[in-house]
Amino acid sequence: MMEKRLLRLGFAPGLIVETVVSTYNPNRQPAAAPMGVTLDEGGKLVIRPFTDTQTFRNLRSRRHCVVNLTADPRIFFHTAFKGEKPSISIPPEWFEKAEKVNAPRLRDSDAYLEASVVDIQGENRERASVFCRVEKVRTLTSGPKAYCRATFALIESIIHATRVAFLLKTGKKTKAGRLLALIAHYRQLVGRTAPKTDKEKLMEELVEVLRGHGASL
Ligand SMILES: Cc1cc2nc3c(=O)[nH]c(=O)nc-3n(C[C@H](O)[C@H](O)[C@H](O)COP(=O)(O)O)c2cc1C
Repeated sequence: MMEKRLLRLGFAPGLIVETVVSTYNPNRQPAAAPMGVTLDEGGKLVIRPFTDTQTFRNLRSRRHCVVNLTADPRIFFHTAFKGEKPSISIPPEWFEKAEKVNAPRLRDSDAYLEASVVDIQGENRERASVFCRVEKVRTLTSGPKAYCRATFALIESIIHATRVAFLLKTGKKTKAGRLLALIAHYRQLVGRTAPKTDKEKLMEELVEVLRGHGASL
C-alpha cells in the first residue's frame, strides 16, 4: 500500500531520486540539505549522506527525517549552500512541523515523506547508508508543471557545484575543471531558455558562490 504510493510518486528500486532531507539540529533548529534517495527491495528508503554532513549527524542522533520532493532549483540552491554568504540561508518560514515524526518539513514541497531511521550502515566510512521506514506520505501539488530546460540545467549545476566546492578545497583541480565545464555549458542553456528571469538570476548567484571557492567562470 505504502510502496504503491511511493511508486506513483516516481520512486522505483534502482532509481536515485533527488530530494531535500529535513531534520532537527541538536539545538532543535530546523535543517535541510539536498540528498539522493533510493527505494530498496524491501520498501525502505535509503539515504546516502557523507558522514561529515550535518544531515548525517542529525539522522544518527534524532532518528527521524522528512524527505521532501521538489523540482524547484531555488530550494535546492538555498538548502545546499546555506551559510556560504549572508544572503544564502533557509528562511525559518520555509519549515513547518511534521505530523508523525520529530522532524521539520518544507512547506513548499510538491510532496513529502515522513520517515524514521531503522538502520545505519557504514557510519565510519566517507558515506553512510541510512535506512528509513516511511510513516506518512502526503502530496501537496495537484496539477502538472510545464517543463523548462533551465530547471534541469540549474539543478544539475547545483549538484555539480557542491562537488566542485569540495574538490577545490582538496586540491583536485582537474576533476573540478571537468565539472566547471559542464556548469559553464548549463549556464549558457539557462541564458538561452530563461533569459532575464529568476532562473538566470539564480544561476548567476551560483556562479558567485563558485567564484568564492576560487573557481574561474
Ligand atoms: C541534488 C543534490 C543531491 C545531493 N545528494 C547528496 C547525497 O546523496 N549525499 C550527500 O552527502 N550530499 C549530497 N548533496 C550535497 C549536500 O546537499 C551538501 O553537501 C550540503 O551542503 C550538506 O548539508 P548539511 O551539512 O547541512 O547536511 C547533494 C546536493 C544536491 C544539490
